[in-house]
Amino acid sequence: MTEQNRPLDVVILAAGQGTRMKSSLPKVLHPVAGRPMVAWAVKTARDLGARQVVVVTGHGAEQVEAALRGTGVVFARQAQQLGTGHAFLQGLGALDAQAGADVLVLYGDTPLLRPETLRELLDDHRARGSAFTVLTGELPDATGYGRIIRDAHGRVERIVEQKDATAEERAVQEFNSGVYLMDARARDLARRITNDNAGGEYYLTDLLGLYRAEGADVQAFKLADPGEVMGANDRSGLADAESIIRRRITQAHMRAGVTIPMPETVYIEDTVQVGRDVTLEPGVILRGQTRIDEGVTVGAYSVVTDSVLERSVKIKAHSVLEGAQIGAGSDVGPFARLRPGTTLGEQVHIGNFVETKNAQLASGVKAGHLAYLGDVTIGAETNVGAGTIVANFDGVNKHRTQIGAGVFIGSNSTLIAPRAVGDAAFIAAGSALHDDVPEGAMAVARGKQRNIEGWSRRYWGGLREKVQVKLPWLAGWLDRQR
Ligand code: UD1
Ligand code: CA
Repeated sequence: MTEQNRPLDVVILAAGQGTRMKSSLPKVLHPVAGRPMVAWAVKTARDLGARQVVVVTGHGAEQVEAALRGTGVVFARQAQQLGTGHAFLQGLGALDAQAGADVLVLYGDTPLLRPETLRELLDDHRARGSAFTVLTGELPDATGYGRIIRDAHGRVERIVEQKDATAEERAVQEFNSGVYLMDARARDLARRITNDNAGGEYYLTDLLGLYRAEGADVQAFKLADPGEVMGANDRSGLADAESIIRRRITQAHMRAGVTIPMPETVYIEDTVQVGRDVTLEPGVILRGQTRIDEGVTVGAYSVVTDSVLERSVKIKAHSVLEGAQIGAGSDVGPFARLRPGTTLGEQVHIGNFVETKNAQLASGVKAGHLAYLGDVTIGAETNVGAGTIVANFDGVNKHRTQIGAGVFIGSNSTLIAPRAVGDAAFIAAGSALHDDVPEGAMAVARGKQRNIEGWSRRYWGGLREKVQVKLPWLAGWLDRQR
């Protein structure tokens, strides 16, 4: 096996408590840009082509394992948090014994570390034929981190923890990120780590010295941007990480031809695909498995989750879409709510305060104002009047309604499901349909209008004094009726 294509196993340390989060949720499950922090580490490992990924769990182990189930990782439980060296050993124990793989250590709480950076680390490690490479960074004040101690020739000698460091060592600016890449010897050498230090912990950092004692080649690879290994330790660190990842994502979209006039206000999860010449207005949120095709505009403060927007769709301000498929050229909103199972054909018009759910609307359907369309199929070019309600729920069960093509539904109609309305039918405004309507028929289902002449004069005349005080115009009208 050559250096370059040696398999890679990844051990992700995620057993620590993270008390500074002040949370009942395990630290590594706090989401950043739509994904639990530990899932970022898993994704990074996958992006690097890892053969096996082990996640070491401890605090909140059951929750962490449940969150990662189905991702193909294996788990190693660390019942007591005796230190990073001990955690690593548990992780190694869960790797299958096939020899010859490099081992990479990542933490579950550093979501900003980019796979590209680790690729460089991997290339550097293999190009130099290093046995153990530690990823380091440099900060004017590296307080809190382990420091990299080099010998007179500039070679990495050891890592000293903050609490074990002398004043001179604490002045060192090069720090240990906690990420290491090592050859297969780690499986044996890690067993020799002891807890003989100020903290009484098993330090994974001691592994570096153990490699050196073997006469093996030990290297450091320095990060261009030390911020990449910034751990999110509290809520404020989470928000910082969030804004950095969000900026990376919006910038990548802008480079690819997306217009985002106020990118600092826009939130796009990294699972979302956005085509060229799409415009995302301020305050837009795009989540989950969403795909947005060329030329679409998403209006201000709209939230789109798990939806497909085909070419040239226009979503107007303050619309909320979830699990919806919108055909080319359709326009939606402002203030529309499209819920799961909504499918719109081409050139559909959905106006303000329209809610849809499990609704298939064929091309050219118009529902311009104030409607609820649930569990319904609507044929091409049907016009849904303002205030139309498909009453799909009888208190116990949901029922479907079928509306044909070219139907005209008058305003404020209620279709009591299950209902069928034939093509080209016409429904008078204000109807409450409790029967089906045949093709081409006109349905009127409402009380017949009755006008009672002179009623107002008799009614208000009986309240003459109050009308004089409160309704002067009406008082004048009464006077003119004599
Ligand atoms: C460790 C390094 C330090 C480095 C720093 C970078 C050691 C001894 N020190 O510091 O040199 O600068 O990381 O952030 O390794 N964890 C477990 N089980 C444990 C202990 C920790 O899974 O028993 C996990 C934590 O969940 C975390 C990671 O390991 O993801 C690092 O633990 P943390 O306590 O933050 O490391 P430090 O000792 O501060
Ligand atoms: Ca730490």
